[in-house]
Amino acid sequence: MKTSIAGEFKTLWRLALGAPAGKNHADRLERFYRPQAESYDAFRERLLHGRSELIDLLSPPDNALIVELGAGTGNNARHFGSRLAQFEAVELVDLCPALLEQARKRWAHESRIRVIEADATHYRPPRPADRVYLSYSLTMMPEWRPALENAVAMLKPGGILGVVDFDLPRGNCLADRCVCEFWRHWFAHDGVYLDRDHVDVMQSLTETITLRESSAALPYLPGLRVPYYIYMGRKPLPANTLQ
Ligand SMILES: C[S@@+](CC[C@H](N)C(=O)[O-])C[C@H]1O[C@@H](n2cnc3c(N)ncnc32)[C@H](O)[C@@H]1O
Repeated sequence: MKTSIAGEFKTLWRLALGAPAGKNHADRLERFYRPQAESYDAFRERLLHGRSELIDLLSPPDNALIVELGAGTGNNARHFGSRLAQFEAVELVDLCPALLEQARKRWAHESRIRVIEADATHYRPPRPADRVYLSYSLTMMPEWRPALENAVAMLKPGGILGVVDFDLPRGNCLADRCVCEFWRHWFAHDGVYLDRDHVDVMQSLTETITLRESSAALPYLPGLRVPYYIYMGRKPLPANTLQ
């Protein structure tokens, strides 16, 4: 992935300015991402960790319908590699036209990828999905609870929800609370809202398969490590289903 100095500067400048004002959520996303859309992937490669691991863990079956909510430039779907040919479709859903333009360019040659402008809180695929995943998008959704409920609602029973995103320490000692406050304020500047309730709600809506917590380096900030998690959960089968 190519990093240009001009692109890097535009991204850092936009991040330094913080989340812009706008008439609604979609407008704010567009104002935030439009100036950095072309350099988005190169910078986020060094910031958003665990994405290829999440895609590997999803292991969709043949003919699967897969939905990514908040898919941005569609970069994550690259990690399916040659497995793409076995799926019915991968739907890349996002609210931000500037990032979707990048996704459309990237996937113009691949008929199995559908790029869709829609809100994650309302979008429904044409049939129940086998896999739904969110990669660093939940923390950018003011209505994250409806988005999670919608993600599970669009899954077929037994289907799998996967989420990778920034995490917060779960302990309640003073050190943990200080770390939480630090990261909350740090990310809120750019419209990213970390919340320990995210994982609790996922666990209440699905049967937990995996919860991995880790931390990783940040670009330009040697010594600082940001916590992130990977969650995988199964939508329960109806109570009267024989297994
Ligand atoms: C940090 S980016 C992550 C993009 C991509 N998933 C990745 O891993 O690179 C967060 C994405 O969530 C999208 N987003 C935020 N709120 C949304 C909503 N309500 N519906 C759909 N997409 C949304 C943003 O437009 C942005 O593309």
